[in-house]
Amino acid sequence: MSATPDFAATLLPADEITAAVDGFLAASPATRSWDVETGVDWDDADAGLLTEGQRSAVQFVTLIEDHLPGYFDVYHRWFPVDDSVDLPVFEHNRELYHFTVRWAVEEDTHARALARYQLASGMAERSALRTELAIEGRKPFDLPYAHPVQFFAYALVQEKATQMYYQQLREVVGDPALAGLLTRLSRDEARHFSFMAEVVTRYLRVHGDAVVDPIRDVVAGFRMPLSDTLRGYWRWALKIADVADYDHTAAYEHLIKVIDRAVDARSDRVGELVDFVGQCRALR
Ligand SMILES: [Fe+2]
Ligand SMILES: [Fe+2]
Repeated sequence: MSATPDFAATLLPADEITAAVDGFLAASPATRSWDVETGVDWDDADAGLLTEGQRSAVQFVTLIEDHLPGYFDVYHRWFPVDDSVDLPVFEHNRELYHFTVRWAVEEDTHARALARYQLASGMAERSALRTELAIEGRKPFDLPYAHPVQFFAYALVQEKATQMYYQQLREVVGDPALAGLLTRLSRDEARHFSFMAEVVTRYLRVHGDAVVDPIRDVVAGFRMPLSDTLRGYWRWALKIADVADYDHTAAYEHLIKVIDRAVDARSDRVGELVDFVGQCRALR
């Protein structure tokens, strides 16, 4: 699926997305970035210090992060930077692209770092891991949305849920090298969440009640990435939730905070949305 004319008509104004992207890049200077080669002392990595469940959690999140080409492609299809869109839409999409490429570099670093951990710690052998990742990596990925705010609301929940999972996993893992890596990952996810929160905030301020139903639909139909395609996803997700809490609905509280901060006074529609999101959290 890809963008329609209706979709283009509901985008944020270019100035609004530009301000959000500038804020993200200002919070992500090169001096604070890290790389796989020097960011972790790989000689110390030792999977023998992990429980079987913790190793399983590392395998799971490696697969999720490694699907980056599929996630990145969603942005290209829905926010194209070519002559398939008219000039004002291109201006918006070109500004967003400054975020998307930086975000993609960071997520690709996560995928590579987790794979490197598996190799360095003795969990996996290189060619077997490459094949294992390829089997899942080539499967398609899309999001069932029709309004632009939905892509950002989805990513808001997903980035926050991932950040929380990495933080919780870090608290229990027995290998300090892995704990150090998880600290780096969770800090990046926190910045990604902040960008998504900023964009959703701007949608609420610019479009008000018109984005309430689209956001509601995201929460109503929320599934973590790859839950439809990854072999054994649900059994695996339950198992790793035992290792460290992987309840994505915990992130809904952060969505509620974003909504509350975005609006000066809740309209009836926004109030209903907040109640609905809160119920989804309670129903876990
Ligand atoms: Fe990531
Ligand atoms: Fe992220």
